[in-house]
Amino acid sequence: MTTKIRAALVVVALAALLHTAVVVAQTTHVVGDSLGLGWLVPPGGPIAYATWADTQTFVVGDILVFNFTTGEQDVARVSKEAFDSCNSTNPISLKTTGPANFTLDTVGNYYFIGTMDRHCPLGQKLAIKVIDSSAGPSPPPSPRSPVIYTVGDILGWVVPPLGEVAYSTWAYNKIFIVGDSLVFNFINGTQDVAVVTKEAYDSCNTSSTIAVYTTSPTTITLTTTGMHYFTSTYERHCGLGQKLAINIIAKSTTPSPSGAATPPSSSVDASPGAGGPTAPPPSSSAPSRIVAGAIVLLSIAVAFLH
Ligand SMILES: *[C@@H]1O[C@H](CO)[C@@H](O)[C@H](O)[C@H]1NC(C)=O
Ligand SMILES: *[C@@H]1O[C@H](CO)[C@@H](O)[C@H](O)[C@H]1NC(C)=O
Ligand SMILES: *[C@@H]1O[C@H](CO)[C@@H](O)[C@H](O)[C@H]1NC(C)=O
Ligand SMILES: *[C@@H]1O[C@H](CO)[C@@H](O)[C@H](O)[C@H]1NC(C)=O
Ligand SMILES: *[C@@H]1O[C@H](CO)[C@@H](O)[C@H](O)[C@H]1NC(C)=O
Repeated sequence: MTTKIRAALVVVALAALLHTAVVVAQTTHVVGDSLGLGWLVPPGGPIAYATWADTQTFVVGDILVFNFTTGEQDVARVSKEAFDSCNSTNPISLKTTGPANFTLDTVGNYYFIGTMDRHCPLGQKLAIKVIDSSAGPSPPPSPRSPVIYTVGDILGWVVPPLGEVAYSTWAYNKIFIVGDSLVFNFINGTQDVAVVTKEAYDSCNTSSTIAVYTTSPTTITLTTTGMHYFTSTYERHCGLGQKLAINIIAKSTTPSPSGAATPPSSSVDASPGAGGPTAPPPSSSAPSRIVAGAIVLLSIAVAFLH
């Protein structure tokens, strides 16, 4: 009898331990929080929630919280087809009381939309991918096909409102491999794209450049490894933060998450000082996420004003 009770106690204790472990590992994601958005029709369209989702790692067991005012918004979990077409006829589940929680209990893609009025077509929609915790946060795809990167994403190639941190944040955690391309979007006549040496990049002296491109969009295919530096020859643009430094790694190399672990072997842009990666990535991803969020928000605000 006592043995049975002891065994039962051990089982209860183990269960409590396991439960604690699960609770500790669980992350609560409040949709749109780093953008200051909550769950609503985002002013910049669906890119807002897509951008937010890119900053998160969703693991089985995590909780997704949609924070909204009951009666003004709702949230439905739907199929991919319904997500794509904004069809809320037959949702998997519908929650009309805010804030609403969803526990992400299986691996795979989850799709959410707002069903009210034209909320979904206007951008109140979120697609996320939930991974197994044992799979790690983001297994680097290797080998992968060439990627076309749009510099600054929706910000484009401008004098960034927050200074050069905009482009170092954008480049942070991206992996640039020989064969990838950069697309610079700007308004003709208001910017240009100058490929420069490290010295010119550091000093913002653009009196001599490696190449200058003046028509938008400018697409530059990355053909050599090592650090590459870009800025604008327009007066003060470089000093105000319109500058980008990236490290390009060889195709055969297994990409590291920062893309900065491989020393440059050769580069048209290499200057005597270009011995190592000197791009100034933010020291931790948390501030970069906040900055990225702020940039997106600013861009959305700008887009909204136009
Ligand atoms: C939901 O939004 C309200 C109002 O903005 C805020 O006070 C509250 O803290 C938010 N809740 C969560 C879980 O973020
Ligand atoms: C919406 O989905 C339902 C079933 O889920 C389907 O019967 C209906 O035809 C769809 N409506 C449109 C406009 O595609
Ligand atoms: C939703 O999740 C949050 C965070 O885990 C929790 O504090 C809250 O009580 C949950 N709400 C409901 C209705 O389950
Ligand atoms: C800018 O660079 C050029 C050579 O690239 C050099 O001759 C010139 O002195 C530099 N100007 C300044 C202000 O450093
Ligand atoms: C910039 O100018 C080029 C050449 O005149 C033109 O092809 C391109 O469409 C223009 N781009 C924009 C964004 O106006």
